[in-house]
Amino acid sequence: MTHEIAVIPGDGIGQEVTPAAVEVLEALEIDFEFREADAGDRVKEVTGEALPEETYELAASADATLFGAAGETAADVILPLRDAVDSFVNIRPAKAYPGIDAVRPETDLVFLRENTEGVYAGHEDRLSEDVATLTRVVTQSASRDLGEFACEYVEDGDHDGFTIAHKANVMRETDGVFRDTIQSVADEHGVETDEVLMDAFATKVCLDPEQFDVVVCPNLAGDVLSDLAAGLVGGLGLLPSANVGPERGLFEPVHGTAPDIAGEGIANPAATIISAAMLLEYLGHDEEAERVQNAVETTLENGPRTADLGGDASTEDVTAAIIDTL
Ligand code: NAI
Ligand code: MG
Repeated sequence: MTHEIAVIPGDGIGQEVTPAAVEVLEALEIDFEFREADAGDRVKEVTGEALPEETYELAASADATLFGAAGETAADVILPLRDAVDSFVNIRPAKAYPGIDAVRPETDLVFLRENTEGVYAGHEDRLSEDVATLTRVVTQSASRDLGEFACEYVEDGDHDGFTIAHKANVMRETDGVFRDTIQSVADEHGVETDEVLMDAFATKVCLDPEQFDVVVCPNLAGDVLSDLAAGLVGGLGLLPSANVGPERGLFEPVHGTAPDIAGEGIANPAATIISAAMLLEYLGHDEEAERVQNAVETTLENGPRTADLGGDASTEDVTAAIIDTL
C-alpha cells in the first residue's frame, strides 16, 4: 500500500532539515508518495495566510506529515496542523547519545505531552491597558485520551510505569482534573504511576534524570520541560517529536527556524531525521524505523557532526553519512 506523506518544510532551517529527512526516507525504497506544501512566514508574505487551506487539507488527508518549522507564525501554523491530524498527544523523546557532549549523558526520557488544551487552547483577552487574561481549559475527556495512550505506551514498550507532572497543589481544578483522570485510567490498566510537581521536576531532572522514564505532562509544561531536557542531552538539534492522532500523525523536530544559522547549510538534521524514524514506526515500518534510528546514532557517535555538536560538517555531509550508514 502506498502511503501519502505531506512534506511541509516551512521557514528558516526547516527548508534545510526537512529535505534531508526526505532524502533518508527515499533511500529506504518504501513505496511513499511525497507531496510538498507551503506554510509559515514566507508564504504569509505572499498570500497573507500562514497556513494555506490546501496545506491544511493535505495534512488532514495524508497518512503522515513531516513538518520543519515556522517562524513568527509558528502558532498560526503548528496549532492548526496538530488539529488537522487530530492529534491529542505529542511524544517527545529526550535521549543522550554516546559520543555527544551532554550535560547529563545518562538522560533517557520520553515526554507525553497533552496536545489539545491547557493554556495553548485557552482564550486570551486584553481587558484593559493594565490587565490581560487567559482561560485555561482542561477536560476529563482529553486527559482520559492521554492517560489511555500513556498506559498503552508503557505496556507496549520497555517501561515500568509513568510519572505525572502537574501543579495540582496550586491549579487545583484544572491540574486536579488532569492528574485524577490520568491516575484513574492508570488504575484501570494496572499501570504504576508516581507524580511530581512540575517545578520540582525541573530541578530533579537536572540533578538526576535517571529517576524518570516516561513523563506525562499538560501542554505548556510539556513544551517547556522537554526543551529543558534538550539542554541536558546536547541541544535542540537532537530532539524529535511526533504528534499522534487516531488515524494520522505529524512529525517534526522540537526546534524552530534557527534564524541565527538559517541559510548557511549547517543545521543539524538529526532531530528531523529521528522524527522521520518516528513516522516510519507510526506507519508500521518498524524495521526501517530502527535502521534509521541506528544510522543516526552511529553517525552522532562517529561523526561527521554539525557545529552545534562541536563539529564543522554541513547538513548535507551529515545526511550523506546517515544514508551511507543505512
Ligand atoms: P530555535 O529552536 O529556532 O533556536 C534556538 C537555538 O537552537 C538557536 O541558537 C539555534 O541556532 C539552535 N538550533 C535549533 N535547532 C538547531 C539545529 N537543528 N541545528 C543547530 N542548531 C539548532 O528557537 P528560537 O530561536 O526560540 O525561535 C526561532 C523561531 O522559530 C521563532 O520565530 C519561533 O517562533 C520559531 N519556532 C517555531 C517552532 C515550530 O515551528 N515548531 C518551534 C519553536 C520556535
Ligand atoms: Mg517549543
